[in-house]
Amino acid sequence: MPASPLRVAIVGATGYSGVELVRRLARHPGAIVTGAYGSSASEAPRRLPGLARIWDGEVQPFDAGRVAHENDAAMLALPERAAAEIAPALLAAGLRVIDLSGAFRLRDEGARARWYPATGALPEGTVYGLAERDSAAIAGARLVSCPGCYPTAALLALGPLADAGLLAGDVIVDAKSGISGAGKAPSDRTHFSENHGSVAAYGVFTHRHTAEIEQELRHAVTFVPHLVPLDRGILETIYVRVPGGTTAADVASAFESAYAEAPFVRLTGTALPEIKHVAYTNFCDIGWVLDEAGGRLVVIACLDNLVKGAAGQAIQNFNVAFGLDERAGLL
Ligand SMILES: NC(=O)c1ccc[n+]([C@@H]2O[C@H](COP(=O)([O-])OP(=O)(O)OC[C@H]3O[C@@H](n4cnc5c(N)ncnc54)[C@H](OP(=O)(O)O)[C@@H]3O)[C@@H](O)[C@H]2O)c1
Repeated sequence: MPASPLRVAIVGATGYSGVELVRRLARHPGAIVTGAYGSSASEAPRRLPGLARIWDGEVQPFDAGRVAHENDAAMLALPERAAAEIAPALLAAGLRVIDLSGAFRLRDEGARARWYPATGALPEGTVYGLAERDSAAIAGARLVSCPGCYPTAALLALGPLADAGLLAGDVIVDAKSGISGAGKAPSDRTHFSENHGSVAAYGVFTHRHTAEIEQELRHAVTFVPHLVPLDRGILETIYVRVPGGTTAADVASAFESAYAEAPFVRLTGTALPEIKHVAYTNFCDIGWVLDEAGGRLVVIACLDNLVKGAAGQAIQNFNVAFGLDERAGLL
């Protein structure tokens, strides 16, 4: 740990992911939360009742000057339009930025203009930060763009298979997410009375996370997200065609070698993972079953969208970026 704690501002602290950032950073051994900010829409400071006795500070209206002048780093848990506007100014002031939004995830200019039109050019020193796969780049980054919640599970499940040459054809990612994935503002789709007792697919061929998964995987995927009546959690059932002759040992070896040193990936093999086992944790659990004769592999990956899919992995990236123990504040 550094001699003195790193000074961190949390912007978007009244949102679902922001509260999770405050909860964990308040107890982080190498960081001190210098300030937590909501939007400037409300002028009065606000408390976070769920964090009483964990963090007893007050959330302040956003003040770019204070964030820029008092901190080593800023964690942004903002709508992407706000992140696109705020991050460059903080970088210019010398802070390192860990961004949870999609604003800086896509490297291709055309794709970025389509899916994240508020973002201009990527600031120098921006890296896509999935700690299990990009830790060397994260270590020197000025701006770490954290993966989306769905892509985190998909890439942790598929990355090792791609690296081992085990993706032989179509890949289908059938994903289910709890409602908090959509943030705290209710909509027709996420309203309790619409969602309770129902399951619905959405965004078929139009979800921007497809572009992100394909960018990182360098393989086409059919990605179909669903909303399920849970408050939190993502479970992805992923269908893969593997090359002829692939054995169960090949698949196990691909996962085990990729994650031998990864503190937050738990491989469950044929004991398939479920959301209850990862809720409120920074773990991504991955299980699989191979049909050797048919060359079909089904992988199940699940995580908590607000922790490993958002705030937890952002803190993991903060730890890697500043050379701290990757697990600090997360276990
Ligand atoms: N939810 C998830 O599972 C998840 C997972 C991965 C990534 N993400 C990404 O993380 C980001 C935050 O998501 P969320 O679900 O936590 O959002 P959220 O619940 O909607 O909260 C948004 C936060 O941003 C603040 N805010 C809004 N506009 C602002 C502005 N112009 N300036 C300063 N603050 C502003 C809000 O403050 P007020 O309270 O004052 O409005 C609130 O604190 C999004 O980009 C999202 O895509 C979310």
